[in-house]
Amino acid sequence: MEYSDARAVMTVALSFLLLLHSLSPTTAATKLVEGVCKKTISYANCVEALDSDSRTPSASNLKDLAKIALGLALSNATESKSFIDKLLKIKRTAAVAKCSSWYKLVVASFRSALEEVEEDALTANYDAKIASDYAVSCENELGSRGIKIPAISTINNYVQLYSSIGFVITNEL
Ligand SMILES: *[C@@H]1O[C@H](CO)[C@@H](O)[C@H](O)[C@H]1NC(C)=O
Repeated sequence: MEYSDARAVMTVALSFLLLLHSLSPTTAATKLVEGVCKKTISYANCVEALDSDSRTPSASNLKDLAKIALGLALSNATESKSFIDKLLKIKRTAAVAKCSSWYKLVVASFRSALEEVEEDALTANYDAKIASDYAVSCENELGSRGIKIPAISTINNYVQLYSSIGFVITNEL
């Protein structure tokens, strides 16, 4: 092989490696997500939740990621609240009515946490954490009456997940 050919091959190979590197998923955002999710109640569910947002790959710091996570928490809990309210319309029971009230507080806590990220990380941290207590109260409401509503238990678990993610992130701000 001629020297110039060898150089051309090297150049192509190097460009290819650089391309691979730029496409590699180990970006700053990936590292942030992994660092946070390792400390939550479920690494896999945390990564899945954060990756579901199109803004996550461009998150360059924890504060960006905190806003994304708490935004997801808020919209997820808002959906859950309206699901519970739909159930309530179909069949009004005391337990589901209680859960609806608890979910008002879940939604309010995540909203407050999101709003406080910029100003007051400590309050955001507290609000993110307490949201899960309200979901536990809903779960206990069902449990103490011997009522099983798996769909509500599932959304209670979502609140636990987002509360855990929100708590871990805001704890590091
Ligand atoms: C809520 O979050 C969970 C966990 O990430 C997800 O599986 C579910 O699809 C979300 N629900 C809505 C309505 O966004």
